[in-house]
Amino acid sequence: MSDRPIIYLDYAAATPVDERVEAAMRPYWRDSFYNPSANYQAARQVHAALEAARTKVAHWLGARGSEIIFTAGGTEANNLAVHGVMRRYPDAKVVVSAIEHESLLAPAGNYEHQETAVGSDGRINLENLRATIDAKTVLVSIMYANNEIGTVQPIREISQLISEIRRQRRADGNGLPLYLHADAAQAANYLDLHVARLGVDLMTLNGGKIYGPKQSGCLYVKAGLELEPLMYGGGQERGLRSGTENLPAAIGFAEALEIAQAARHDESARLKSLQRQFIAGLEKKLPEAIINGSLKYRLPNNIHVTIPGVDNERLLIQLDEAGVMAAAGSACSASSEESSHVLHALGLDDATARASLRFTLGRGTQATDIELAVKALGQAAAK
Ligand SMILES: Cc1ncc(COP(=O)(O)O)c(C=O)c1O
Repeated sequence: MSDRPIIYLDYAAATPVDERVEAAMRPYWRDSFYNPSANYQAARQVHAALEAARTKVAHWLGARGSEIIFTAGGTEANNLAVHGVMRRYPDAKVVVSAIEHESLLAPAGNYEHQETAVGSDGRINLENLRATIDAKTVLVSIMYANNEIGTVQPIREISQLISEIRRQRRADGNGLPLYLHADAAQAANYLDLHVARLGVDLMTLNGGKIYGPKQSGCLYVKAGLELEPLMYGGGQERGLRSGTENLPAAIGFAEALEIAQAARHDESARLKSLQRQFIAGLEKKLPEAIINGSLKYRLPNNIHVTIPGVDNERLLIQLDEAGVMAAAGSACSASSEESSHVLHALGLDDATARASLRFTLGRGTQATDIELAVKALGQAAAK
């Protein structure tokens, strides 16, 4: 047995399932395995449990249960948002930010689409966004928080801009709706998810990023907004997601969301202090290191750094050998030969992007982990 430390700093890629989540899911594998659509008491209880999970999710979003569509994770929710709207308006246009997750960019690529740029700090510029939206735009999709650099977008201001454009459209006699979707997969541990405060029409959440099961999550769909389904069949999930419901996943996701949202202020404060410690450590050990993305509008668990001249793949291997698990680029795509589209959107060239690493902290991270990780990074970069 090696006595090297195990320091997991890749929480943006995956989180371990919380014990309380696991316990909440357990009855639904064997004891309460019934199909929620079946017509006997035991199944009706399972159906009630599914609806209670939906209500729980809705509560944290300030939404109604009927506005929550359970999905198998963030990719499916993003696909449902984009295809769901665009298949109803095939001649219309979708606007996305240049730093969206692949699961949003790829479906958007099937339609007339336009990207809105971000500044070198990773933030959307509202005037640029306004200029990108035209009379044919039906959907705007801007992620709440970025998975690589942790940048938080001004969703509320964006929704105010959208409302303004809607008013103008009405005045112009343009009957095309304009919807705002936010991918909040990385946001739910730390940020407010109240849909009316944010002003979103559609929002993606993902259980695998919030200490819930992978392939769980939901799409919030504002009442009255009609989507085209991705999958057709028995008509479950208001006809938007046919297939026998995944009870353990829905129950686990709802429990995970509740735990994460209830703890978000305390956990954000705790991680912010560890994030500061990490950055201060870098300044001391690797003064040439550059932090990418806004420091102010940033998730408290993200440190994304360029160390000029290093090869991030080599560094990751060395860090792994030292017991530190981190990421280069997006760990959310299975493998990528290309350097990150997010870093390119910030204006980084290929060589700089390939000298960049992401560390994401989480519930298990302690000050000693940060100390050891910074030390290991300093040693690896010096080799
Ligand atoms: C911002 C964002 N959106 C969507 C996804 C896709 O989620 P999943 O791979 O669980 O379907 C991820 C992570 O992988 C993500 O970070």
